Amino acid sequence: MSATISLPGTRAGSTLLSVGSYRPARILTNDEVAGPIDSSDEWIRERSGIVTRHFAAADESVVDMALAAGSKAIAAAGIEPSSIDLVLVATVTHPYQTPSAAAELAHRIGATSAGALDVAAACAGFSYALGLADSLIRTGSSTHVLVVGVEKLSDFLDMHDRGSAFIFGDGAGAVVVGPSDVPGIGPVVWGADGGQKDAITMTQSWTEYRDAPGETYPTLVMQGQQVFRWAVGEIGKVCVRALEAAGVSADDLDAFVPHQANMRITDAIVRSLKLPEHVVIARDIETTGNTSAASIPLALDRLVETGQVSSGGLALFVGFGAGLAYSAQVVRLP
Ligand code: UT7
Repeated sequence: MSATISLPGTRAGSTLLSVGSYRPARILTNDEVAGPIDSSDEWIRERSGIVTRHFAAADESVVDMALAAGSKAIAAAGIEPSSIDLVLVATVTHPYQTPSAAAELAHRIGATSAGALDVAAACAGFSYALGLADSLIRTGSSTHVLVVGVEKLSDFLDMHDRGSAFIFGDGAGAVVVGPSDVPGIGPVVWGADGGQKDAITMTQSWTEYRDAPGETYPTLVMQGQQVFRWAVGEIGKVCVRALEAAGVSADDLDAFVPHQANMRITDAIVRSLKLPEHVVIARDIETTGNTSAASIPLALDRLVETGQVSSGGLALFVGFGAGLAYSAQVVRLP
């Protein structure tokens, strides 16, 4: 028989060591986006809960924003960038087919011997990537993983599209995940319904754009009501499965950090879960808009920064969006 393959020792768990975020300087009010879509500050606030959002500068890239958030998370974790052995970047707005944003980020941040890959699961991407990080640390394949959620959605918006122009924003959030004797990240519950792939998509593919002279550049397009109904009907059940998988109840939670899709979706999920009063609900969408894969770590960082949550408490994360992909897990707060 040929030689056997040896494996590293497995670990009991992984945990969030730190969080960091980056919000671009430019702030857009509802009045600024309402004109071209014949909308109003009042309608946008009432239907989405959004008051302002951040847009990146023209020369500010997805990797620039990821670098800013990732550097803060690494500093807060108290480790050297060179001890990061895997960089995962959840994004759907890095404008290069290849190479990945993660490869460039690993180089620029000083994670010189890290593996690097992007995770394209849209608004569920951060939770998907966190699930991968946890599994890889538990199997012994990785020790310190930098997980970043970052989007520059402003590059892919049609500011004349009533269904999407007012809802999205730009930003980045990052966490460092490391080994732990006690599990600090619960089992990930994830899935996707590709049968509804047209619910959030691009107006056309790159090849269609190339082959159709005069066509406009591909931008995001969303069947808002369809996504809204799906999220309100299904995401509460995904949350319950994540709580059950982690063996905890809603009463045990200190915070709920859902993808910041729409304040009314958050309210509907909170009602369906019957979350007790003491659970802090992330409502970062008000001043950040919907930042897709970046929304959960951005919202988490806001809760930590403002002292609304304490280290060691339990939080439930849930991401959902294009795909229609979803992902959830219970975590111990950094
Ligand atoms: O992050 C990825 C996942 N994305 C989501 O989870 C987003 C899910 N969807 C949503 O958040 C909501 O569907 C939107 C905020 C996008 C839209 O809100 P809505 O309550 O679903 O609006 P609607 O499309 O049902 O439109 C309601 C009314 C309509 O008028 P009538 O027919 O009632 O007279 C629309 O014509 O509002 C009108 N409307 C607007 N009015 C002002 C639609 N868009 C606008 C607009 N400004 N931008």
